[in-house]
Amino acid sequence: MVFLLILALLSIVIITFIGPIVVPPFSFPRNIPTIPFYVSFLGLDQLQLYEKYLREKLEKYGAVKIYFASRWNILVSKPEYLVHIFKNEDIFAKSGNHIKIPKSVLATYTGDNIISAHGDLWRLYRDVVAQSIQFPDLVPIEKNTRDFLKSLEKELQKGPSIFVNDLLQLYSLANVGDCIVGANLTPMHQKIKYIKSQIFKPFFMNFPSVEMFPIPSRIKAKKEVEAFRSWYGEKIKNSTRGAAANLSAALSNGKLTQKQYLDNSIILMVAGHENPLLLMLSLLYVLAKNSCIQEKVRKEGDPYLSAVVYETLRMYPPLNQIINRCTTQATILGNIYIPKGVYVGYYNMGTGRDANFWESANEFKPERWGSTSEEISANYSKAKRMGTLPAFHGRKRACLGEKFALYECKMFVQAVLGKYKISLDDTWKERITPAGPICPVNMKLRFSNL
Ligand code: HEM
Repeated sequence: MVFLLILALLSIVIITFIGPIVVPPFSFPRNIPTIPFYVSFLGLDQLQLYEKYLREKLEKYGAVKIYFASRWNILVSKPEYLVHIFKNEDIFAKSGNHIKIPKSVLATYTGDNIISAHGDLWRLYRDVVAQSIQFPDLVPIEKNTRDFLKSLEKELQKGPSIFVNDLLQLYSLANVGDCIVGANLTPMHQKIKYIKSQIFKPFFMNFPSVEMFPIPSRIKAKKEVEAFRSWYGEKIKNSTRGAAANLSAALSNGKLTQKQYLDNSIILMVAGHENPLLLMLSLLYVLAKNSCIQEKVRKEGDPYLSAVVYETLRMYPPLNQIINRCTTQATILGNIYIPKGVYVGYYNMGTGRDANFWESANEFKPERWGSTSEEISANYSKAKRMGTLPAFHGRKRACLGEKFALYECKMFVQAVLGKYKISLDDTWKERITPAGPICPVNMKLRFSNL
């Protein structure tokens, strides 16, 4: 009797709590494969995970079912499907962390903002900040790049090899602060780093819904995040230029609430420096691995440098897995039936490395983009249009900071290669990040004067 009771209880626990994690909902499409739920917990980096569990299935079906962030999702890589999703914005509607995982520390940090909002709210936020992002003041980048080189030189007095992350983050913050936000963000570097370390805890990134429960460490993290947001909002409020000035004017005249003001202020700072930082790190990584490419960039400059950047975006897309859209009605994607209320995301690395669309997809070959400026930029535009390079998304919701990011990244590479030869430090274990954004982890580089 007792045995039967235990068995019954165990079955209830399995059906209620474990079943929904192990098996996708019955309403999910049957004609695409399921990635075993445990792969996110194996601690593999994203390249290993892609090669071992995703590549074959994505190349064959263009989409898979995957467990991520406390739910089952559909992850898409086929360019044709991506274009369809980007075109049908009202069916595959943005539904960011503030809706998906509302009580999480991450959602507390970034809230409801221009990247994650849909419809009228998105239009409102865009109206306030788009101009400052699309038409930034690019002048300060030159001085910031000189300052970066000085800091690098100082750091290198301690020895020829250094961990580059911190210096680059400071550089990236300086640029977005001076050019887009309209405030000096560099004194906030340490605080921003600390807040990031509180948010990105691997267990809670995989199971964010656990943060609904009163876990002391997460309650503390949320309080710290809230305090930082208020502090940051006050710091940039009196700015007289850039997005900060527009945001605080919108707050004063009642166009934005205090929360909307903070949500959007934070996201511009976060996306505006983190995303270019990822790309700069990956650029240094591919260049450090290949001295011939360094030499060619030095000799030819642009347009070859542009081809190197595009090739890096293809193989190491800064934002790899983005799952922030939810179907507003049942719909068909190619031959896949998707019910209403399902989260659909895209997988940039899968698209960029898909052998159906890229020849020698696993080879880093900047030459594939062409040899003249016209050819390279035409191929880049075509890849974006066809959905074969979605690193900056596409169509109506495409990244507003693309031009700025590409400009600063190219200036940065030219400055570094103009002074140094770089290589990977022998003691650094080559590894890219395990989830979400892509960049080499804690990379150490060796610099030698030219
Ligand atoms: C290498 C650097 C960058 C990459 C790879 C990148 C990538 C992306 C991607 C993939 C999206 C679409 C996200 C989604 O599907 O939800 C996006 C949107 C966006 N990005 Fe970027 N981004 C970069 C730099 C920047 C910078 C510097 C800013 C400046 C603040 C910025 C501001 C935005 C905004 C405002 C949107 C939302 C646009 C909209 O929905 O209207 N990004 N970005």
